[in-house]
Amino acid sequence: MEIYLDTAKVEEIREMAWIVDGVTTNPTLAAQAGRPFREVLQEICHIVRGPVSAEVVAQDEEGMVKEAQELAKIADNIVIKIPVTVEGLKAVRRLKALGIKTNVTLVFSAPQALLAAKCGADYVSPFVGRIDDHGGDGMAVVAEILRIFENYKFPTKVIVASVRHPGHVVAAATLGAPIATVPYPVLQRLFQHPLTDQGIARFLSDWEKVPR
Ligand code: G3P
Repeated sequence: MEIYLDTAKVEEIREMAWIVDGVTTNPTLAAQAGRPFREVLQEICHIVRGPVSAEVVAQDEEGMVKEAQELAKIADNIVIKIPVTVEGLKAVRRLKALGIKTNVTLVFSAPQALLAAKCGADYVSPFVGRIDDHGGDGMAVVAEILRIFENYKFPTKVIVASVRHPGHVVAAATLGAPIATVPYPVLQRLFQHPLTDQGIARFLSDWEKVPR
């Protein structure tokens, strides 16, 4: 499974570039980066050679296509994030014909993902954490989407997004989701287990007792 970093903070990306396969951003994350976004994207695309998602803010097809074309000029690994609206999916069709890759975002249901795949989206991003927040089952939605894509052999890849804890990553991997995008603190937690720390402490203290 590929792991993307869900952040626009260049220092986090620089630190974790050795392990991550791509990066996803959104307008909220761009605001947190606190710098001109084009400049930030240029830097990110230089650090990470895998796909880097950047979201449009226009709401109409024409505006989205125009914005996407501008963003796509930044680097050849830019993927355009488009919300799953009627206008958004029309834009996805147009961008497909133009050879610009898309990641359909704000996906909360299997039918939305199906329509995105039919329109030629390269990626869809179901927001599992936000689904859970609203009393739903985010991973059940991912399972439905994976099944549908498999049934019809859609080449669209699922990016499990809005990941809140390591359990989401494990569930995504167990279902065979090809990609999970994780915030920096969750990525840190994937490495950790208290028994690993305790084990190291014990081995080091026992090593002191070994005659030398
Ligand atoms: O990439 C967007 C998605 O991961 C948002 O996550 O935590 O704001 O629901 P969150």
